[in-house]
Amino acid sequence: MKILVTGSKGQLGHELLIQGNNLGYAILPADLPELDITDKTQVKHWLEKFQPSLVVNAAAYTNVDKAETEQNLAFAVNRDGPANLAEACAKFEIPLIHISTDFIFDGKKRSPYIATDPVYPLSIYGKSKQEGENEVRSRLKKHIILRTAWLYGVHGQNFVKTMLRLGREKEVISVVADQFGSPTSAADLTAAVLQIISRIKKYNGDINWGTYHYCGIGITTWHGFTKEILSLARQYISIKTKDVKPISTAEYPTKATRPCFSALDCGLIKKNFGINIKPWQDSLKTVIRQLCQKETEK
Ligand SMILES: NC(=O)c1ccc[n+]([C@@H]2O[C@H](COP(=O)([O-])OP(=O)(O)OC[C@H]3O[C@@H](n4cnc5c(N)ncnc54)[C@H](OP(=O)(O)O)[C@@H]3O)[C@@H](O)[C@H]2O)c1
Repeated sequence: MKILVTGSKGQLGHELLIQGNNLGYAILPADLPELDITDKTQVKHWLEKFQPSLVVNAAAYTNVDKAETEQNLAFAVNRDGPANLAEACAKFEIPLIHISTDFIFDGKKRSPYIATDPVYPLSIYGKSKQEGENEVRSRLKKHIILRTAWLYGVHGQNFVKTMLRLGREKEVISVVADQFGSPTSAADLTAAVLQIISRIKKYNGDINWGTYHYCGIGITTWHGFTKEILSLARQYISIKTKDVKPISTAEYPTKATRPCFSALDCGLIKKNFGINIKPWQDSLKTVIRQLCQKETEK
């Protein structure tokens, strides 16, 4: 089965290449500059030329704060890109798995969001991703929109790597303790995407298409996440930090407003695709070991 992965140089895209190839799929990687998803003609050309059986869109504009000032680019990549992909997929009758985000919610709920909850994004990034979802829904029946949250992995830039760096450099780190969510390992998310693909293959496309949630099990804050990162890392590398200070969002102003609660209910993906999800701490353990081993090998 030939699978086109857009955004293949990103955190998720990179994992999809590794795990997908290991499972025997013919993964066709595509990222800038070869395939710019904002270019309708290029997108159509790639699908026509390579005729994949399925497309996974892992490409996105993911700099949440910069999106506030680079609005045109954020909407081009996160709204027009998925629209171009969905339109071309519809033309060639190819299913699309599109990745979206917890930042489409406003955070006012106090229990994990289900896929049908109303969305009210607070930022340009969230708004651009919401509009991207709508474009996919309106153009292509055979789609999976998979919303995830707080993504990190061995490849690419992410919160875990930033905290490991700060942990080696600083005695005191101040981290926001009033935003709640669920850290998600890119490797786990990839395994979930591949499990969905195996179902699509097995049932010849006769599956429950639509919108799903996937994130690590359990809810924490960025502060709780940081404490766990550093405590796990201490087994492998020298950590200077003695105090991880909890602070409020107001004490750490950012350009983009983030939801103060964005945990996702993953019941539907478990039920429809038989996907097992690990507690976020278990997945973090694996990634910290891999990152610290890489570090000590340098
Ligand atoms: N990261 C998170 O915490 C998080 C949380 C929730 C949901 N998500 C969603 O999860 C998905 C994967 O995120 P990620 O963290 O793996 O993202 P990432 O590491 O930023 O990777 C995105 C990739 O897309 C590429 N890209 C940007 N514009 C493109 C374009 N016009 N055409 C083709 N490729 C383009 C990027 O290239 P450049 O690097 O050169 O721009 C990058 O290689 C995204 O849909 C994101 O919205 C992420």
